[in-house]
Amino acid sequence: MCGIVGILGKSAVATNLVDALRRLEYRGYDSAGIATVEHGALERRRAEGKLRNLESRLLSEPLAGRTGIGHTRWATHGRPTERNAHPHMTANVSVVHNGIIENFRELRLALEAKGHRFETETDTEAVVHLITDEMKRGLSPIDAVREALTHLQGAFALGIIFAGNDDLMIAARQGSPLAIGYGSGEMYLGSDAIALAPFTDAITYLEEGDWAVLRRAGVEIFDRSNARVERPVIKSVASSLLVDKGNHRHFMAKEIHEQPEVISHTLANYIDMVEGRVNFPDLGIDLAKINRVTISACGTAYYAGLVAKYWIERTARVAVEIDVASEMRYRETPLPQDGLAVFVSQSGETADTLATLRYCKVNGQRIASIVNVRTSTIARESHAALPTLAGPEIGVASTKAFTCQLSVLACLAIAIARARATITPQQEMELVAALMEIPRHISSIIRNEQPFIDIAQELSKATDVLYLGRGTSFPIALEGALKLKEISYIHAEGYAAGELKHGPIALIDERVPVIVVAPQDDLFEKTLSNMQEVAARGGQIILISDAPADSVGCKLAAHIQMPTVSAFTTPLLYAVPTQLLAYHTAVVMGTDVDQPRNLAKSVTVE
Ligand code: AGP
Repeated sequence: MCGIVGILGKSAVATNLVDALRRLEYRGYDSAGIATVEHGALERRRAEGKLRNLESRLLSEPLAGRTGIGHTRWATHGRPTERNAHPHMTANVSVVHNGIIENFRELRLALEAKGHRFETETDTEAVVHLITDEMKRGLSPIDAVREALTHLQGAFALGIIFAGNDDLMIAARQGSPLAIGYGSGEMYLGSDAIALAPFTDAITYLEEGDWAVLRRAGVEIFDRSNARVERPVIKSVASSLLVDKGNHRHFMAKEIHEQPEVISHTLANYIDMVEGRVNFPDLGIDLAKINRVTISACGTAYYAGLVAKYWIERTARVAVEIDVASEMRYRETPLPQDGLAVFVSQSGETADTLATLRYCKVNGQRIASIVNVRTSTIARESHAALPTLAGPEIGVASTKAFTCQLSVLACLAIAIARARATITPQQEMELVAALMEIPRHISSIIRNEQPFIDIAQELSKATDVLYLGRGTSFPIALEGALKLKEISYIHAEGYAAGELKHGPIALIDERVPVIVVAPQDDLFEKTLSNMQEVAARGGQIILISDAPADSVGCKLAAHIQMPTVSAFTTPLLYAVPTQLLAYHTAVVMGTDVDQPRNLAKSVTVE
C-alpha cells in the first residue's frame, strides 16, 4: 500500500515529512519522495528503495519550504524507479496519490492531444496534467481540483500542493483513506493517524468522496456533491500503535473499508495497468502444460480457493482438485506429474495448510502460495510466494485478506488461461478491466451501511441462518455463513442452492432467515426457483443481487441492491455485503468482534 503525508508548517517541513513517511513504512513500499513550495516554486527530491536513500539525497540536496507533501510508493503503474516515484508534478502542481485511476489512459490521450508531455508510465501523472490543464483554462487551484475530480474514476487518495501558494494544500478521498491533522498554526495530511502521531492527536478522517482545502488557519471539507460539510475531530491513540482502528469502532470495520485500497494494490501487483493485461510472476512451471491444479487451504482461505476452482476450470479449462488442508493432508491423494499445487493462507502459518504443502512438495508438485505475510513459513517453503497486499489484518475474522486472495487467484486463472490460449487477448483485457472496476464498486457498497444495520437487527434475533448460492456464489455463501457464525455466534450454514431440496429445506420456516447470494448470471433463474421454494415455506429471504427486488416474483424480507458487474468478478463484490451483515449483526449481539471467543488469528496447531 502507498503512504501519503502533507504538512503546512511554520518552518521547513522536509525532515518532518520524512519522519511521517517512516511511520508508514509498515505499508510496504519501493520508492519515496517529497515536494515542497520553496520561494514560490515547486521543488522535489525522490529516491528508489528505502527512506534512507531519500534522506541521503536530501542531505546532499536539501529542500527548504514550509509547505510540502510526501509519498512512499508501492509500484503499481510503472516500475519502482525514481522516475516513477511520487510526487509527480508540473511547474504548477505537485501530487501524491494512493490507489488506482482506472481511466488514466483515456485522460492521458486527451491531455497529450492538448500538448501535455508525460514523463512517466504512472496513472498519477494524468492527475497532475489534468489539474494543470484546468488551471491553464483560468481556474483557480481549488476550482481546478474540483473540476478535475469529476473526471477521475477509480479508488484513490490525493495530496496536492501548488506553485506560488505557500498556504494551500488540497486532499481528496475516493476509496483510499485520508486523515487530516490539526496543529497549532500548522495542518497535516496523512494516509492514517499513525503518520501524524508525532505532530498531533487531533484527527479528522475524510469520508468516501470528500475533498478538503487545507490552510494553516484550518480546513474546509466538501462532500462529493461539493457541499460544505463538517466531519468530527477525534482524539487519535495512534501514537503508540503501529496499526490503529482509524475512525472505526473495530479493526474488522476498518479492514472492510480498506478493501478498495488494498484490492487496488494487490491487483496492480499482478496486472500491467498500461497494457490492461495480467502480468503474473513466473511460477517456474509451464502453465501451458499443467493438466491439474491442486488447491488447499483452511476456513476463509479455503473458500477463496473454491472460487478459484470455478474460475480456473471455466476460464483455463484445467481440472482443479481442492480440499480443506486438514483432510487433504491425510487423504494421500494421488498427484499428477508436474502438477501445480496452490496454497492460500493469510497468516502463512496454518499448520494443516503447511502440512499439505509439504505433502505436495515431496510428491513433485510445483508449490505456489498466496500469503499476506511474505516472511511466513508457508511463503518460505513455497517455490513461488504470491503476496496479497492487504496490509496487516488484525481482526480475527478475515475480510480484506479474503478479497485480496480472490484478486490474486483471479489473475492466476487468467494467466493460466492465456498460457493455454483458452481466452483471446481481447477476452483477457475484458476480464482485467472488470477486475480493475471492483475497488470502485466496493466503495459504492461500503459508503452506505444503513441497509446492513437494519437487516442486522432482524438477523440478531435468529438462531439459525442459511446462506444459498450457485456457481462462484456458492463459496461466497459458505464464506458469508462462516463470517456470521464466527463473530456473532449465531448458527449459520451455507449451501449450494440446488442442494436445498435434498434435505436442508426441512429447516425452513418463518423463523429462518435465508440469505441468497444471486447476481444475475447464467444460474440466476435457477436460484430464483430455489427462492420461491423457500418463500412458499415462509422462509425470510434476504436477497443480495443486482436484480431489482420487484423482478424476482416472490416475497423478500430484505433486498440488498448490488451494481451489475461481470459474472467473473461477482465473488469479489458479493463478499462485501456478507461481511457487513456479519459485522453489524455481531455489533448488535455485543460480541467481541475483533477477538471472537475460541478463535485465533492463526491456527498453528492441528
Ligand atoms: C476466517 O475468518 C478465519 N479467521 C479462519 O477461517 C481463517 O481463514 C483460517 O484459519 C485460515 O487462516 P490462514 O488464512 O491464516 O491460513
